[in-house]
Amino acid sequence: MTVDVTPTSVSGINIKSSQNRLLIKNGRVVNDDGIEDLDVYIEDGIIKQVGRNLIIPGGTRTIDATGKLVMPGGIDPHTHFELEMMGAKCADDFYKGTRAAVAGGTTCVIDFVLPQKGQSLLEAYNNWREKADGKVCCDYGLHVGVTWWSPAVKKEMQQLASEQYGVNSFKMFMAYKDAWMLDDYDLYCAMETCAELKALPQVHAENGHIIARNTEKLLAKGVTGPEGHQLSRDEEVEAEAVNRACVIANQAGAPLYIVHMMSKSAVRALQLARSRQRHALIGETLAATVGTDGSHYGNACFRHAAAHVLSPPLRPDPSTPQAMCEALADDHLQLIGSDNCTFHEKDKQLGKDNFAKIPNGVNGVEDRMAILWQKAVNTGIMDPCRFVAVTSSNAAKIFNIWPQKGRIAVNSDADIVVWDPKLERTISAANHKQAVDFNIFEGQHVVGSPQYVVVNGRVCLDDGELRVVEGFGKFLKTPVESPMIYDGQQSQEEAPHRPEFLEAPMRVTNGTPSPDL
Ligand code: URP
Ligand code: ZN
Ligand code: ZN
Ligand code: ZN
Repeated sequence: MTVDVTPTSVSGINIKSSQNRLLIKNGRVVNDDGIEDLDVYIEDGIIKQVGRNLIIPGGTRTIDATGKLVMPGGIDPHTHFELEMMGAKCADDFYKGTRAAVAGGTTCVIDFVLPQKGQSLLEAYNNWREKADGKVCCDYGLHVGVTWWSPAVKKEMQQLASEQYGVNSFKMFMAYKDAWMLDDYDLYCAMETCAELKALPQVHAENGHIIARNTEKLLAKGVTGPEGHQLSRDEEVEAEAVNRACVIANQAGAPLYIVHMMSKSAVRALQLARSRQRHALIGETLAATVGTDGSHYGNACFRHAAAHVLSPPLRPDPSTPQAMCEALADDHLQLIGSDNCTFHEKDKQLGKDNFAKIPNGVNGVEDRMAILWQKAVNTGIMDPCRFVAVTSSNAAKIFNIWPQKGRIAVNSDADIVVWDPKLERTISAANHKQAVDFNIFEGQHVVGSPQYVVVNGRVCLDDGELRVVEGFGKFLKTPVESPMIYDGQQSQEEAPHRPEFLEAPMRVTNGTPSPDL
């Protein structure tokens, strides 16, 4: 049974009671750089002691983590809660979405403010804060979309990157022509501005013009179903944009973070760019592409096929999921998000007669951790330390909230997941916590899931029972000048020449950190 603490009962929690002290005992603590058998003592939301034979106050609640892994809570760097796009509104709001996140072991999300073309970025940011602040069950940060360009936008980026607003990442779209897409000149200006601010530019890398023309041709030929979505934007369309974005970033003197990389071709383009790039290049992939594939677009059932529509699309190449796990393990990709952007079937129906009108997006915020564990750790592709790196620590470092988040250490926030590597379950929309009426991982059996999830010191998943508090999370400022992004920048001359990336298969090394990081 799921027992939530509703907002009305929040006042009933004595936050200064022994409930505020917690000992997690006998577990294996996993950080991105090592595993050790240690106990963890928490007080007032902060990790106060890590070690053996700790001396702690009487009356402290103890969780016995024998046989379990004690890991930093997941950080999902890519969510869209309550987003309105393509004529529909996301099913998951900030309450249901973060509640589902916590159920799956994620204790922090970074959502995207997406202004309409012409809209003030600050106004959109304030709208997002209003939507989220009273609802989030865990801490959250914000990226802001740069969906149009003008001197006023540049000024607002400067304001947003200040201490007052706490935004260090800006997303630009190379797709969604006539909506959010920027041309190359505007992309250049936006990236240049990010570099000036020591913020991080992010791109949605797909060629929007090619997609638009391919869509016209497919519709004219009578291809109107969800299969047209992938046909209009194959791997090459993604890889071209990855390459172009890297070139523009290099010319603008900026680092670059490519969101939702969905194909082997895109990862190859990123690897190739790394051999010549002056600044950090970060690649993010998704639970969706690790956990399922593009074969679903051929499903005769519209509901089923449309539920898998996201951009860039899932790929028909069946070797993609494993290749993406390997790319994460080998540091060709640095992190995994969910891009959780869920639409009910009734909203997906907007594209019944035209695939280009199917609202884009899938679930993943709840299952991201378990899916990656199943596909990459249980298969031996990745060890638990790398799992922590790509689900949590790297996001904390990239967005400059490390070691407050993403680490089990004294003085870090007590965002912790006690992971039971033997816990078995079958993923299903029938029992998931997300609001949406479909799950793209339906029927998948996973071994390994959270048993306890601690959010800022509070046990919010308690031996499998969800006990979140609406509005318990806080807005988390992400300061500019992340050392992971801006330290150790290489000049063009110093950049390592790595010709092996040109021809080698994607799996080149095992766990060796790339010099780009
Ligand atoms: O299909 C997707 N990815 N929907 C969310 C919007 C975006 O492009 O991230
Ligand atoms: Zn996108
Ligand atoms: Zn179906
Ligand atoms: Zn997205």
